[in-house]
Amino acid sequence: MQRRTFLHRSAALAALPLLRSVPGGATAQGASRAALRVNAARLNGWLAQFDAIGRTPTGINRVAYSEADLAGRTFTLDLFRQAGLAPRIDTAGNIFGRLEGTDRSLKPILIGSHVDSVTDGGNFDGPVGSFGAIEVARSLRDQGVRLRHPLDVVVWSNEEGGTIGSKCATGQITPADLEKVARSGKTIREGIGLVGGNVERLGEAVLKKGDLACYIELHIEQGGLLEKAGLQIGVVEGIVGLRWSEVTITGFANHAGTTPMDQRQDAMLAAAKFTVAINDAVRAVPGRTVATVGRMTVSPNTTNVIPGAVVLTVDLRDLDPAKLTHFTSTFERLASEIGTATKTTFAFKSLVNSAPAISDGTVMQWIDASATALGLTRQRMPSGAGHDAQEVAHIAPMAMIFVPSVGGISHSPKEFSKPEDVANGGHVLLNAVIAADKG
Ligand code: HGY
Ligand code: MN
Ligand code: MN
Repeated sequence: MQRRTFLHRSAALAALPLLRSVPGGATAQGASRAALRVNAARLNGWLAQFDAIGRTPTGINRVAYSEADLAGRTFTLDLFRQAGLAPRIDTAGNIFGRLEGTDRSLKPILIGSHVDSVTDGGNFDGPVGSFGAIEVARSLRDQGVRLRHPLDVVVWSNEEGGTIGSKCATGQITPADLEKVARSGKTIREGIGLVGGNVERLGEAVLKKGDLACYIELHIEQGGLLEKAGLQIGVVEGIVGLRWSEVTITGFANHAGTTPMDQRQDAMLAAAKFTVAINDAVRAVPGRTVATVGRMTVSPNTTNVIPGAVVLTVDLRDLDPAKLTHFTSTFERLASEIGTATKTTFAFKSLVNSAPAISDGTVMQWIDASATALGLTRQRMPSGAGHDAQEVAHIAPMAMIFVPSVGGISHSPKEFSKPEDVANGGHVLLNAVIAADKG
């Protein structure tokens, strides 16, 4: 089904009076009667409506701390209210809502994701899990299911800028981090204030070990493994660690016509050599390590001047911390060699550092059992994308539920997940929460 058709159909469905949740999406065989389901039409309808917020000719641009992000948060806050979740914004700008349980002595089960996007991104990375969590809370209320545990729903702020909101909530943000400039052009400090947080009282947002029963995040896979295997659900067993560095290469700007080739300090040449060298270094070692030069600013960036400076970013990821350390030092060695050869200098600045996270076995079993009860096919798998769940892993047992991304495409306007797969994700999250509540 094409995205346009999906949007029209889902928006129409969302306008229908509240349907009793129907087993939409789950395969017939093996599904047990006991398994509950979310209201798939409502969930997909919200996504269809959300698609218009921050949409530009080049894709979805709900970049954290931008006007479009604020509009997306306003839409999301309304969904919280419609679900009776009485949303509050913590001092880090994260949105929380609670469905009270019957036993107030129990710690909350936390579910959620994010709604900010990358530049020119897609509509599903984040909102599927955020709206899926809201839908789970609403379905529990609609179906008169009372959990023992409180159920907290969270929408983390600025996930795409380095899981900032969840890093704040797990006490990992330093004063220096607050001065870093986010993709919106505002500093983290300014951005948190803009979305309703308060950096002067950031400590109040911090959750400690023992504050949560567990965390479960529904998310699109953002890769193609489920689609290739023809499977419906991914049970995430680990999330890659990621290190983002900003590399400033300094040469000497000079005349492009009068400067002989052997007398240049060409920062762009150094940047090009470095980009190729890190790609070769990673591909020379078997494994899952990935490295990307995603952003590059050239100055003075004009046709007839040898670039005097280049600022680029490196995104390095692996499940194994030792590999992250190995390649970090490899990249610095390569920079030094290239600097010598091109008479330029390289300076590295760490932008984001998220440790790899291993999912909790018990939480994964709840997801397994939930998918089985729904008659859905599944596999255990790693996440090549970073997620808020890897930050929450510092303080609580966590696991994630993946649903397929069509063509394995994400961080692109072509990002798409089918309504039935989104529905399956919501159903699995609902039954996993019920399993977690039974403990
Ligand atoms: O970059 C990531 O992997 C995530 O989508 N923020
Ligand atoms: Mn995401
Ligand atoms: Mn993302």
